[in-house]
Amino acid sequence: MIQIKDITKKYPKAEQYALDKVSLEIGTGEAFGILGPNGAGKTTLMSIITTLSRPSSGNIFVDGELITRKRNDIKRKLSFVTQHISIRKDMTVREVMELSGRLSGMSGRLIREKCDQLLEYTDLSDKSKNCARGLSGGQQRKLMIARALLSDPEILVLDEPTVGLDPHARRKIWDMLINLKLRGMTLLLTTHYIEEAENVCDRVAFINKGKVSDVDTPFKMINDLGKYAADVFEENETHSYFFPEIQDAEEFVSSTDKMIRIRETTLEDVFLNKMGEGLGREA
Ligand SMILES: Nc1ncnc2c1ncn2[C@@H]1O[C@H](COP(=O)(O)OP(=O)(O)OP(=O)(O)O)[C@@H](O)[C@H]1O
Ligand SMILES: [Mg+2]
Repeated sequence: MIQIKDITKKYPKAEQYALDKVSLEIGTGEAFGILGPNGAGKTTLMSIITTLSRPSSGNIFVDGELITRKRNDIKRKLSFVTQHISIRKDMTVREVMELSGRLSGMSGRLIREKCDQLLEYTDLSDKSKNCARGLSGGQQRKLMIARALLSDPEILVLDEPTVGLDPHARRKIWDMLINLKLRGMTLLLTTHYIEEAENVCDRVAFINKGKVSDVDTPFKMINDLGKYAADVFEENETHSYFFPEIQDAEEFVSSTDKMIRIRETTLEDVFLNKMGEGLGREA
Protein backbone atom coordinates (compact mmCIF):
# COMPACT_ATOMS: atom_id res chain seq x y z
CA MET A 1 0.00 0.00 0.00
CA ILE A 2 1.17 3.52 -0.80
CA GLN A 3 0.15 6.20 1.70
CA ILE A 4 0.71 9.78 0.65
CA LYS A 5 0.26 12.09 3.62
CA ASP A 6 -0.02 15.86 3.39
CA ILE A 7 2.64 16.26 0.72
CA THR A 8 3.52 19.81 -0.22
CA LYS A 9 6.16 20.90 -2.68
CA LYS A 10 7.37 24.37 -3.43
CA TYR A 11 10.15 24.71 -5.99
CA PRO A 12 12.82 27.30 -5.22
CA LYS A 13 11.74 30.77 -6.35
CA ALA A 14 8.25 29.52 -7.28
CA GLU A 15 5.37 31.63 -6.03
CA GLN A 16 2.87 28.83 -5.80
CA TYR A 17 2.94 25.36 -4.37
CA ALA A 18 3.39 22.66 -7.03
CA LEU A 19 1.70 20.32 -4.51
CA ASP A 20 -0.51 21.54 -1.71
CA LYS A 21 -1.29 19.05 1.07
CA VAL A 22 -1.84 16.05 -1.19
CA SER A 23 -3.07 12.94 0.63
CA LEU A 24 -3.94 9.68 -1.12
CA GLU A 25 -3.97 5.96 -0.40
CA ILE A 26 -3.30 3.44 -3.13
CA GLY A 27 -4.03 -0.18 -2.29
CA THR A 28 -1.76 -3.10 -3.11
CA GLY A 29 -2.72 -4.47 -6.52
CA GLU A 30 -4.75 -1.39 -7.35
CA ALA A 31 -4.47 0.51 -10.64
CA PHE A 32 -4.68 4.17 -9.72
CA GLY A 33 -4.80 7.11 -12.14
CA ILE A 34 -3.85 10.71 -11.47
CA LEU A 35 -5.56 13.10 -13.85
CA GLY A 36 -5.07 16.83 -14.16
CA PRO A 37 -4.26 19.60 -16.62
CA ASN A 38 -0.74 20.71 -17.61
CA GLY A 39 1.16 22.01 -14.62
CA ALA A 40 -1.22 20.41 -12.11
CA GLY A 41 1.61 18.71 -10.22
CA LYS A 42 1.39 15.14 -11.52
CA THR A 43 5.05 14.69 -12.48
CA THR A 44 6.12 16.41 -9.27
CA LEU A 45 4.09 13.90 -7.24
CA MET A 46 5.45 10.93 -9.23
CA SER A 47 9.02 12.08 -8.74
CA ILE A 48 8.49 12.40 -4.98
CA ILE A 49 6.88 8.95 -4.74
CA THR A 50 9.80 7.46 -6.66
CA THR A 51 12.28 9.28 -4.35
CA LEU A 52 13.78 11.28 -7.24
CA SER A 53 12.83 14.50 -5.53
CA ARG A 54 12.03 15.52 -1.98
CA PRO A 55 8.80 17.07 -0.75
CA SER A 56 8.86 20.39 1.13
CA SER A 57 6.76 18.67 3.80
CA GLY A 58 4.70 15.54 4.32
CA ASN A 59 5.46 11.84 4.22
CA ILE A 60 5.04 8.87 1.93
CA PHE A 61 4.86 5.32 3.22
CA VAL A 62 5.12 2.17 1.11
CA ASP A 63 3.91 -0.92 2.96
CA GLY A 64 4.19 1.05 6.19
CA GLU A 65 7.79 2.14 5.65
CA LEU A 66 8.76 5.78 5.27
CA ILE A 67 10.25 5.94 1.77
CA THR A 68 13.00 8.39 2.63
CA ARG A 69 14.22 6.02 5.35
CA LYS A 70 14.07 2.86 3.24
CA ARG A 71 15.20 4.29 -0.07
CA ASN A 72 16.98 1.14 -1.26
CA ASP A 73 14.05 -1.12 -0.37
CA ILE A 74 11.71 1.22 -2.19
CA LYS A 75 13.96 1.26 -5.25
CA ARG A 76 13.80 -2.53 -5.35
CA LYS A 77 10.03 -2.59 -5.05
CA LEU A 78 9.19 0.19 -7.42
CA SER A 79 9.96 1.07 -11.04
CA PHE A 80 9.34 4.38 -12.74
CA VAL A 81 8.54 5.01 -16.40
CA THR A 82 9.20 8.72 -16.86
CA GLN A 83 7.17 11.17 -18.93
CA HIS A 84 10.10 11.92 -21.22
CA ILE A 85 11.88 9.21 -23.20
CA SER A 86 14.96 8.41 -21.17
CA ILE A 87 16.90 5.74 -23.02
CA ARG A 88 20.35 5.91 -24.53
CA LYS A 89 19.61 6.19 -28.23
CA ASP A 90 23.08 4.96 -29.24
CA MET A 91 22.58 1.60 -27.52
CA THR A 92 20.77 -1.39 -28.96
CA VAL A 93 17.49 -2.47 -27.41
CA ARG A 94 19.20 -5.40 -25.71
CA GLU A 95 22.03 -3.22 -24.40
CA VAL A 96 19.50 -0.80 -22.87
CA MET A 97 17.93 -3.72 -21.03
CA GLU A 98 21.25 -5.29 -20.00
CA LEU A 99 22.65 -2.06 -18.62
CA SER A 100 19.58 -1.56 -16.49
CA GLY A 101 19.77 -5.16 -15.22
CA ARG A 102 23.44 -4.77 -14.30
CA LEU A 103 22.73 -1.48 -12.51
CA SER A 104 20.13 -3.21 -10.39
CA GLY A 105 22.59 -5.98 -9.53
CA MET A 106 21.01 -8.85 -11.45
CA SER A 107 23.10 -11.82 -12.61
CA GLY A 108 23.98 -12.13 -16.30
CA ARG A 109 21.89 -15.29 -16.63
CA LEU A 110 18.82 -13.73 -15.03
CA ILE A 111 19.19 -10.61 -17.19
CA ARG A 112 19.30 -12.72 -20.37
CA GLU A 113 16.27 -14.76 -19.33
CA LYS A 114 14.14 -11.81 -18.28
CA CYS A 115 15.29 -9.77 -21.25
CA ASP A 116 14.09 -12.42 -23.73
CA GLN A 117 10.76 -12.71 -21.90
CA LEU A 118 10.15 -8.98 -21.70
CA LEU A 119 11.19 -8.17 -25.27
CA GLU A 120 8.80 -10.86 -26.41
CA TYR A 121 6.08 -9.49 -24.12
CA THR A 122 6.52 -5.99 -25.56
CA ASP A 123 6.79 -7.17 -29.21
CA LEU A 124 10.39 -5.99 -29.42
CA SER A 125 12.18 -9.35 -29.88
CA ASP A 126 12.94 -8.73 -33.55
CA LYS A 127 14.32 -5.29 -32.70
CA SER A 128 16.71 -6.46 -30.00
CA LYS A 129 19.83 -5.75 -32.09
CA ASN A 130 18.55 -2.42 -33.40
CA CYS A 131 19.73 0.88 -32.05
CA ALA A 132 17.10 2.54 -29.82
CA ARG A 133 17.38 5.57 -32.10
CA GLY A 134 15.79 3.54 -34.88
CA LEU A 135 12.66 2.63 -32.89
CA SER A 136 9.35 4.40 -33.36
CA GLY A 137 7.96 6.49 -30.50
CA GLY A 138 5.65 3.66 -29.47
CA GLN A 139 8.47 1.11 -29.52
CA GLN A 140 10.63 3.41 -27.39
CA ARG A 141 7.80 3.69 -24.84
CA LYS A 142 7.43 -0.08 -24.83
CA LEU A 143 11.17 -0.44 -24.29
CA MET A 144 10.92 1.89 -21.29
CA ILE A 145 8.15 -0.29 -19.87
CA ALA A 146 10.13 -3.49 -20.59
CA ARG A 147 13.15 -1.98 -18.83
CA ALA A 148 11.04 -0.97 -15.85
CA LEU A 149 9.71 -4.53 -15.55
CA LEU A 150 13.17 -6.12 -15.58
CA SER A 151 13.57 -5.92 -11.82
CA ASP A 152 10.14 -7.53 -11.21
CA PRO A 153 8.74 -4.52 -9.36
CA GLU A 154 5.72 -4.75 -7.07
CA ILE A 155 4.77 -1.21 -7.99
CA LEU A 156 4.98 0.34 -11.44
CA VAL A 157 4.71 4.13 -11.68
CA LEU A 158 4.06 5.49 -15.17
CA ASP A 159 4.02 9.17 -16.06
CA GLU A 160 2.02 9.57 -19.28
CA PRO A 161 2.97 6.17 -20.69
CA THR A 162 1.15 6.56 -24.01
CA VAL A 163 1.72 10.20 -24.88
CA GLY A 164 1.98 10.69 -28.63
CA LEU A 165 1.13 7.10 -29.54
CA ASP A 166 -1.35 6.09 -32.22
CA PRO A 167 -4.60 4.43 -31.07
CA HIS A 168 -3.38 0.88 -31.78
CA ALA A 169 -0.09 1.33 -29.95
CA ARG A 170 -1.92 2.99 -27.05
CA ARG A 171 -4.37 0.12 -26.74
CA LYS A 172 -1.54 -2.40 -26.78
CA ILE A 173 0.00 -0.63 -23.81
CA TRP A 174 -3.39 -0.57 -22.06
CA ASP A 175 -3.61 -4.34 -22.51
CA MET A 176 -0.10 -4.74 -21.10
CA LEU A 177 -1.04 -2.65 -18.08
CA ILE A 178 -4.30 -4.55 -17.51
CA ASN A 179 -2.31 -7.77 -17.72
CA LEU A 180 0.19 -6.54 -15.12
CA LYS A 181 -2.68 -5.51 -12.85
CA LEU A 182 -4.23 -8.97 -13.19
CA ARG A 183 -0.87 -10.41 -12.11
CA GLY A 184 -1.13 -8.38 -8.91
CA MET A 185 1.11 -5.43 -9.69
CA THR A 186 0.22 -2.05 -8.20
CA LEU A 187 -0.01 0.56 -10.94
CA LEU A 188 0.12 4.29 -10.48
CA LEU A 189 -0.18 6.31 -13.65
CA THR A 190 -0.83 9.78 -14.96
CA THR A 191 -2.39 10.48 -18.31
CA HIS A 192 -4.07 13.18 -20.34
CA TYR A 193 -6.05 10.49 -22.13
CA ILE A 194 -9.00 10.19 -19.80
CA GLU A 195 -10.21 7.16 -21.73
CA GLU A 196 -6.95 5.46 -20.75
CA ALA A 197 -7.71 5.91 -17.06
CA GLU A 198 -11.29 4.75 -17.61
CA ASN A 199 -10.01 1.57 -19.25
CA VAL A 200 -7.09 0.73 -17.01
CA CYS A 201 -7.67 2.26 -13.57
CA ASP A 202 -9.74 0.98 -10.64
CA ARG A 203 -9.77 4.47 -9.12
CA VAL A 204 -8.72 7.92 -10.22
CA ALA A 205 -7.86 11.19 -8.52
CA PHE A 206 -8.28 14.62 -10.07
CA ILE A 207 -5.53 17.09 -9.33
CA ASN A 208 -5.44 20.77 -10.21
CA LYS A 209 -3.02 23.48 -9.12
CA GLY A 210 -1.39 21.07 -6.71
CA LYS A 211 -4.58 20.06 -4.92
CA VAL A 212 -6.49 16.80 -5.14
CA SER A 213 -10.21 17.45 -5.57
CA ASP A 214 -11.87 14.08 -6.15
CA VAL A 215 -10.94 10.45 -5.65
CA ASP A 216 -13.23 7.63 -6.74
CA THR A 217 -13.91 4.83 -9.20
CA PRO A 218 -14.67 5.97 -12.76
CA PHE A 219 -18.03 4.16 -12.44
CA LYS A 220 -19.07 6.11 -9.34
CA MET A 221 -17.90 9.43 -10.80
CA ILE A 222 -19.88 8.84 -13.99
CA ASN A 223 -22.96 7.73 -12.04
CA ASP A 224 -22.78 10.80 -9.83
CA LEU A 225 -22.74 13.11 -12.85
CA GLY A 226 -25.49 11.15 -14.65
CA LYS A 227 -25.02 8.09 -16.84
CA TYR A 228 -26.50 9.74 -19.93
CA ALA A 229 -25.41 12.88 -21.69
CA ALA A 230 -27.32 15.04 -24.16
CA ASP A 231 -25.06 17.24 -26.30
CA VAL A 232 -26.84 20.35 -27.50
CA PHE A 233 -25.33 22.68 -30.06
CA GLU A 234 -26.43 26.13 -28.97
CA GLU A 235 -24.95 29.60 -29.22
CA ASN A 236 -22.07 28.26 -31.35
CA GLU A 237 -21.00 25.83 -28.63
CA THR A 238 -21.77 22.29 -27.64
CA HIS A 239 -23.26 22.11 -24.16
CA SER A 240 -23.65 18.76 -22.44
CA TYR A 241 -26.49 18.04 -20.04
CA PHE A 242 -26.41 14.97 -17.82
CA PHE A 243 -29.22 12.68 -16.71
CA PRO A 244 -29.46 9.66 -14.41
CA GLU A 245 -31.73 7.69 -16.78
CA ILE A 246 -32.06 7.55 -20.55
CA GLN A 247 -35.77 8.39 -20.28
CA ASP A 248 -34.86 11.71 -18.64
CA ALA A 249 -32.50 12.49 -21.52
CA GLU A 250 -35.18 11.55 -24.07
CA GLU A 251 -37.73 13.74 -22.32
CA PHE A 252 -35.26 16.61 -22.51
CA VAL A 253 -34.79 15.98 -26.25
CA SER A 254 -38.53 16.00 -26.91
CA SER A 255 -38.87 19.34 -25.11
CA THR A 256 -36.67 21.19 -27.61
CA ASP A 257 -36.16 21.44 -31.35
CA LYS A 258 -32.40 21.98 -31.10
CA MET A 259 -29.83 19.59 -32.56
CA ILE A 260 -29.20 17.03 -29.82
CA ARG A 261 -27.22 13.83 -29.52
CA ILE A 262 -27.79 11.42 -26.65
CA ARG A 263 -24.88 9.23 -25.56
CA GLU A 264 -23.39 7.56 -22.52
CA THR A 265 -21.45 9.80 -20.15
CA THR A 266 -17.68 9.25 -20.05
CA LEU A 267 -15.03 9.95 -17.45
CA GLU A 268 -13.86 12.75 -19.71
CA ASP A 269 -17.21 14.50 -19.15
CA VAL A 270 -16.64 14.23 -15.39
CA PHE A 271 -13.11 15.56 -15.78
CA LEU A 272 -14.20 18.54 -17.90
CA ASN A 273 -16.96 19.37 -15.43
CA LYS A 274 -14.80 19.12 -12.33
CA MET A 275 -11.90 21.00 -13.83
CA GLY A 276 -14.27 23.83 -14.70
CA GLU A 277 -12.77 24.31 -18.13
CA GLY A 278 -15.11 22.07 -20.05
CA LEU A 279 -18.12 23.02 -22.01
CA GLY A 280 -20.34 20.71 -20.04
CA ARG A 281 -22.77 21.72 -17.35
CA GLU A 282 -25.34 19.82 -15.40
CA ALA A 283 -28.98 20.00 -16.34
N1 LIG B 1 12.12 21.76 -11.65
C1 LIG B 1 11.17 22.68 -11.49
N2 LIG B 1 11.48 23.92 -11.02
C2 LIG B 1 10.53 24.85 -10.83
N3 LIG B 1 9.22 24.65 -11.04
C3 LIG B 1 8.85 23.44 -11.48
C4 LIG B 1 9.80 22.40 -11.73
N4 LIG B 1 9.14 21.30 -12.17
C5 LIG B 1 7.83 21.66 -12.19
N5 LIG B 1 7.66 22.92 -11.80
C6 LIG B 1 6.36 23.64 -11.66
O1 LIG B 1 5.54 22.87 -10.80
C7 LIG B 1 4.20 22.84 -11.30
C8 LIG B 1 3.78 21.39 -11.52
O2 LIG B 1 4.56 20.84 -12.57
P1 LIG B 1 4.45 19.31 -13.00
O3 LIG B 1 5.52 19.04 -14.00
O4 LIG B 1 4.42 18.48 -11.79
O5 LIG B 1 3.01 19.29 -13.72
P2 LIG B 1 2.29 18.12 -14.51
O6 LIG B 1 0.94 17.96 -13.89
O7 LIG B 1 3.15 16.94 -14.61
O8 LIG B 1 2.10 18.80 -15.96
P3 LIG B 1 2.10 18.10 -17.43
O9 LIG B 1 0.72 17.55 -17.62
O10 LIG B 1 2.33 19.27 -18.33
O11 LIG B 1 3.18 17.09 -17.48
C9 LIG B 1 4.18 23.70 -12.57
O12 LIG B 1 3.72 24.97 -12.22
C10 LIG B 1 5.62 23.73 -12.99
O13 LIG B 1 5.91 24.94 -13.65
MG1 LIG C 1 3.98 15.89 -16.16
